[in-house]
Amino acid sequence: MKAYRLHELGGPDALQCEEVPSPTPGPGEVLVRLRAVSLNHRDLLVAKGVYNPKLKLPVIPVSDGAGEVVATGAGATRLRPGQRVISGFTPAWLDGPLTEEKARSSLGAEANGLLAEEAVLPEQALVPIPAHLSFEEAATLPCAAVTAWNALIETGRLKPGDAVLTQGTGGVSLFAIQFARLAGARVIATSSSEEKLARARALGACDGINYKSTPDWDKRVRELTQGQGVDVIVEVGGAGTLPKSTRAVRPGGTIALIGVLSGGGEFNPIPVLMKHIRLQGIFVGSRRMLESMIRAIEIHQLRPVIDRVFPFDQAVAALKYLESGAHFGKVVIRIQD
Ligand SMILES: NC(=O)c1ccc[n+]([C@@H]2O[C@H](COP(=O)([O-])OP(=O)(O)OC[C@H]3O[C@@H](n4cnc5c(N)ncnc54)[C@H](OP(=O)(O)O)[C@@H]3O)[C@@H](O)[C@H]2O)c1
Repeated sequence: MKAYRLHELGGPDALQCEEVPSPTPGPGEVLVRLRAVSLNHRDLLVAKGVYNPKLKLPVIPVSDGAGEVVATGAGATRLRPGQRVISGFTPAWLDGPLTEEKARSSLGAEANGLLAEEAVLPEQALVPIPAHLSFEEAATLPCAAVTAWNALIETGRLKPGDAVLTQGTGGVSLFAIQFARLAGARVIATSSSEEKLARARALGACDGINYKSTPDWDKRVRELTQGQGVDVIVEVGGAGTLPKSTRAVRPGGTIALIGVLSGGGEFNPIPVLMKHIRLQGIFVGSRRMLESMIRAIEIHQLRPVIDRVFPFDQAVAALKYLESGAHFGKVVIRIQD
């Protein structure tokens, strides 16, 4: 089978497409013929060596994919050949609290990922795809969508009438807009682009703030919430945006700390305690969260936003396109029809 592998860490150009032996499912495992993968910011960090400079190489990158079951190993009875499936981001995290062992099972870094024609996965990691979603759409769910779901619904305990702030219009933030609306919350979205803000409004955001032309976006958030601040912030900016987020959240509100897109910076922790802010780190989520999210997606017939689908032989171009930040929605690679 064909697979992309990283033999060294150095960005998208380090990906090499090569012929590798087809994997065989062992006890409790399933062979999946992959049809599509979707890219996350993390896949760029992995390729660049930022995610883990000591990664064991070679490794097949990319965590999120969708395909169909081809064969099952001894004792694997949850799934049957032909079933359409996606995998959880961390196959060992089925439910309950995160442990170091569960975190280490993440695909496309510590374990081989899915940028390949086939993959063998533990059957317990796999979840059937909702009937209304294509392979391309389903491939967008394991990382970005579960992260947004965990931040807002599981950890954020969002209620109808709450206000949510999303930062930028990357994969996580767009799912956050969709889930917040589904939960009956009001969304204030930020972006560096007016055009993307218009699209975020079309997706369900009530208000949009351009964080480039309005660098004091925290003040605008407070104005839009009658001086109160929002209940939950989907914090993908990290240290560079956290100081403003502590001003934009209401006393007792939640900042779900997800990403570090704004780079480094000083962060003063005092407002966190003075305002009783819940600063909650998020690491994607468990299979149980993926299943809960899929139930909601099915009931509401929700469709992920896909920006562009690249063919398998253009995987490097797809990663570079993600790196450019031009996308609105998920960047997908179709592996085979
Ligand atoms: N902790 C976890 O479990 C977890 C899971 C998934 C992702 N993440 C992290 O979350 C972040 C987002 O991931 P993603 O896959 O959604 O990324 P992505 O799709 O590549 O999103 C990039 C977008 O983020 C926005 N952005 C960039 N810098 C920003 C800034 N300083 N302030 C506000 N927005 C900014 C831009 O939106 P505009 O073009 O609209 O300005 C950009 O297009 C990354 O840091 C990623 O590593 C963490």
